[in-house]
Order: sequence, then structure tokens, then C-alpha cells
Amino acid sequence: MSDSWSPDSWRSMPVVQMPDYPDQQHLRDVEKQLSSVPPLVFAGEARSLKRSLGQVAHGEAFMLLGGDCAESFAEFHPDKIRDTFRVLLQMAVVLTFGAARPVVKIGRMAGQFAKPRSGNTETIDGIELPSFRGDMINAPEFNEQARTPDPDRLMRVYNQSASTLNLLRAFAQGGYADLHKVHQWNLDFVEDSPLGHQYQDLADRLDETLSFMGACGINSATTPQIRETSFYTAHECLMLNYEQAMTRIDSISGNWYDTSAHMLWIGDRTRQPDHAHVEFLRGVANPISFKAGPTLEPDDMIRLIDILNPEDEAGRMTITVRMGADKVEEGLSRLIRRVESEGRTVAWVCDPMHGNTITSSTGLKTRPFDAILKEVRSFCNVHDAEGTYAGGVHFEMTGQDVTECTGGAYAISDENLNDRYNTLCDPRLNATQSLELAFLLSDILKGNRSSEPLRTVASA
Ligand code: PEP
Ligand code: CO
Repeated sequence: MSDSWSPDSWRSMPVVQMPDYPDQQHLRDVEKQLSSVPPLVFAGEARSLKRSLGQVAHGEAFMLLGGDCAESFAEFHPDKIRDTFRVLLQMAVVLTFGAARPVVKIGRMAGQFAKPRSGNTETIDGIELPSFRGDMINAPEFNEQARTPDPDRLMRVYNQSASTLNLLRAFAQGGYADLHKVHQWNLDFVEDSPLGHQYQDLADRLDETLSFMGACGINSATTPQIRETSFYTAHECLMLNYEQAMTRIDSISGNWYDTSAHMLWIGDRTRQPDHAHVEFLRGVANPISFKAGPTLEPDDMIRLIDILNPEDEAGRMTITVRMGADKVEEGLSRLIRRVESEGRTVAWVCDPMHGNTITSSTGLKTRPFDAILKEVRSFCNVHDAEGTYAGGVHFEMTGQDVTECTGGAYAISDENLNDRYNTLCDPRLNATQSLELAFLLSDILKGNRSSEPLRTVASA
């Protein structure tokens, strides 16, 4: 790999998981148009997130990232954005209490439209067509026109992301995120949940804490942190033509930033060190992550860190571990030991979704709530045993009452999955399952907190 980087240097590298556009001129026209639209995020915001993730790497903050597996054009609605944002806020309050640390909130939103697929094509009844790769690329219907990659979809993604982000910013800063309101939603949740008694104690303690703060004069009127919050966006950096077109030089720092989101990650299928996706992300200054699945060897991980974070900057590098509930114990400790022995600064985050996907008895892709919880628990336990810090979680979830993951307080069964199975791609936790997980995780974090001291790598 040469040292020189430019926003298009990825184009000379091998690449996987990218579509073949039949009309290349049309693609170039759209890329040109996209390269002059206003950025979706500002470099200064990406730097704030990097600082916060630096705190995560040093054990001083906890990260919560969540949202759809794939956003969709058809499902685009303000209520859906509001509901997912609301559940993320509710989870964040519970986790703040458990972790006794600030929670860095990131939506898998406003840009999560492209999907890696296991096959380039799909065959039904003897007809072979390109696989559906997310609304950014083609349409899910099984016919030739729908499945042909269409460059105009890139512009539509930009426009939908801009309106989504606009609403998220308004919610975060305009009074919707007021801590007391969020807490009241949580109390309602605990009251309604069939397993509410499990969460009652934590809810009561939170209630007491907020009343105490109120008595001390810390309220929405006196304290901006009570009525506003910071909220960031992230998505998989997969469709490189779009990401390149959204990449700009920041006039303050002189660095390149991918302005399509605050944070970007490389998927488990596209993290080859000498391939295009790694090449592209190494040159932008955003905070970044890569997925660490069970096939990632410690040597390859260190090579990736060397390429993506050569200066060992805190907050630049998050590793999103998605091993599966039964593999995480062994897989993660090997990776942690290597990072520690090499003295690298990374934030460790658990994605308990992608290693726990199974096919239900009725043929739908699902994930059992208990496997998700088990992976999160093991992830925390491994960190506890290694003396390192479990820095956060990455969930596929929605604020809607879908039936896509089995289990949880309402005991969704294989037979129930058909009721409201709406995902365009992977199964998501619904609103109550997401909150349950937050309460259970909060308890785990509280337990682990007593086992100080944390061993953090040298401060930057
Ligand atoms: C995803 O996050 O939706 C995804 C495809 O994950 P992974 O790259 O870990 O398989
Ligand atoms: Co997914």
C-alpha cells in the first residue's frame, strides 16, 4: 500500500460487496452532483464525537449505538424516527445510571442504506437476479427492473438522510430529550412490562436520584444538560462512490472528513487490509470502527489498527466485536490480550446481533433475546477478567412494536414472528426488548463497576 491517500485512491484497490451499475455515465453524473451538496455533518461535530469516544477508550464513558439494520425509503416517516430516537434516549438514561458514566448516543440512522450480501445474485424458481443490496442500491422486489442498481437512489439517500438528521437535531436540542420526560417514559415502561418487577428497583433508585438533583436546584431551567443532549449518526461505510462524493476538506483542520455521518464502520465482510474499504477509511479523520467477527485473527486486527490508526489517537478506533454468544469468550480475550500487549488505544464495543442470527422453525431469520443478552454478558465478563473496559453496545433495534427477535418479556415465539415482521434486512429488537436489555445491561454494568481498578492504556 502506498502512503499517499486521496478520496479516490480506493478505486485502484480490489473491492468486494459493491454493485455493478450498467450505466456508468449516469453514476458519474450523480457522484458529481453529490460532491457539491451541503455536508450532512460538520467536521467539528465529528471531532466532538472522537473526543467522547476517547473517553470510552479510557473507561470514562459508555457508548450506545442503535437503529435499523437497513433504513428504507418505504418506511420513511417522522414517527418512526421519533420512536427510535425516544427508545435510544430511554436506554441511555438507564445505562448512564448503571455505568455511572456519560453515555455517548449514536443512531444507526440517516445513512444506513447499503447492505453486504452473502451472494451477488439470488435465484427464485430458476430466475437469477442481482441480490437486494439496500435501498441505496436497488429495490427489494424480485424483478429485473427493481434489482438493477440505480444511481438516482444515492441522491434519494442523501435527501432522506438530510431530513432525518434535521429532525434528530431538533429533537436533541429542542426540549424533546428532557431527562425528566425520558425518565417518566421509563417509569411507564416498568409499570406496563410483565417483568416490570425486575426493573422496579433500578427505576426507583433513578427516581430518587432525580428528585435529589431537583431538590438541589438541578433542573431543566437551570441546567442545559438536563434538557438537551448530543446525538450522533453512524452507518456502515459500504457504498464507496457515495462516501467519496460526501468527503470534503475541513477548512479549520485541513483534514478530509466523510461528511455523510459522524462515525463510519467497516463491515465484517469488507475489512481486508489491502482492499478498497480500508483504503478509503484510513484517509478520513472521522472516528471509525471495524467489525470483529469470529474469523478475525489477532495479527490481522493489529494490521488493521496499524493502517487505520497509525498515530494511536484515542477515540479514532473502535472495535465492534460480533462473535456470537458461544464464541465471544474465547474470541474476544485473544483480541484484547493482543491489543494490550501492543499497547494500542481502542474502544471495545459489543454488537450482540450479527453473531446470533438463526432461522426460526417457520423459516424467518431471527435472533433469540437470550442469546443477545448472553453475548453482552460474556463480553462484559471477559473485559472484567482481563482488567479492560467494556465500552459500549451496538444494537439493531427500532422504536416500533415489531416481532422480529424471539423472546423478551412478551415471550415472542417462532409462531409470533409473522405478526409484524417488517425488517428490510436483519431482525431488530422492538421497543420493549430494547429497554429490557438496557435495564439488564445496566445491572451488569453496576455489578462490574465494583471490580475497580480499570486498566487503561496510556493516555494520549
Ligand atoms: C450490519 O451491521 O448490519 C452488518 C452487516 O454487520 P457485519 O458486517 O458485522 O456482518
Ligand atoms: Co444487520
